[in-house]
Amino acid sequence: MQPTDFKDPLPQHVAIIMDGNGRWATERGMSRVRGHVAGVQSVREITTECARLGLGSLTLYAFSVENWKRPSTEVRYLMRLLRVFLRRERKTLMKNNVRLRCIGRLHDLPAGALKELRRTEEMTRKNTGLVLRLALSYGGRSEISDAMQAYGRDVLAGQADPEKVDEESLRAYLYDPETPDPDFIIRTAGEMRLSNFLLWQLSYAELYVADVCWPEFKKQALWKALAAFGERHRKFGLSPEQDGGRKVSSSAGKTSS
Ligand code: FPP
Repeated sequence: MQPTDFKDPLPQHVAIIMDGNGRWATERGMSRVRGHVAGVQSVREITTECARLGLGSLTLYAFSVENWKRPSTEVRYLMRLLRVFLRRERKTLMKNNVRLRCIGRLHDLPAGALKELRRTEEMTRKNTGLVLRLALSYGGRSEISDAMQAYGRDVLAGQADPEKVDEESLRAYLYDPETPDPDFIIRTAGEMRLSNFLLWQLSYAELYVADVCWPEFKKQALWKALAAFGERHRKFGLSPEQDGGRKVSSSAGKTSS
């Protein structure tokens, strides 16, 4: 497959559940953490390719709230990988005009990783190309419950009116309300579940499951996924007569049912 094999429109915001690092390594007789190391190469290649293609945002599920329950050696290793990744990738992010943002319960992260993360966010703040969002210590349910807590505080302070609450006002309490919802969600390693990822934001995203494990998901696999997106027919709850039987289009401004 070539990058010319898929046609516009491309998704504006791609979200990826990077699954299968452990399986990839175990199948090759290596320790699970070697799979995470190999996964970093895919993070680098896919980010660079999304930037080159001119996508608006890429959100990667890098560490979930549930992942803290993994063996402490694996957790420590992942946190170290994150720190090293942030330090090493800054130059490339700057070169590719990529802005880094992070979502999740970031206060849970070790101080060293958090410091590198804030530095990278600050350094790339003015970049105008792709927004790379890393979901870290992230859970869709915790995002919604954190939003409800913040909303409740505003109600108590007299700054929000429960009678007027609607989808738009609730969205303002999510971790990153400015970024449009993903229109395309990719999961690797063949699993067909959302695993507590962006539960609010994925309501109308097109789903795509790649059979390959994340360390094997490189730009050819991304092109294949984007070609599949181009063939989808997005209805947003309308009937075929109402939406004219169109293929993909932006979700901006659409209402749902
Ligand atoms: C899932 O594979 C992957 C993760 C829990 C972590 C994802 C992390 C990376 C790709 C590397 C670090 C990322 C950054 C941004 C530095 P798994 O271990 O659940 O695989 P399995 O299902 O085969 O066990």
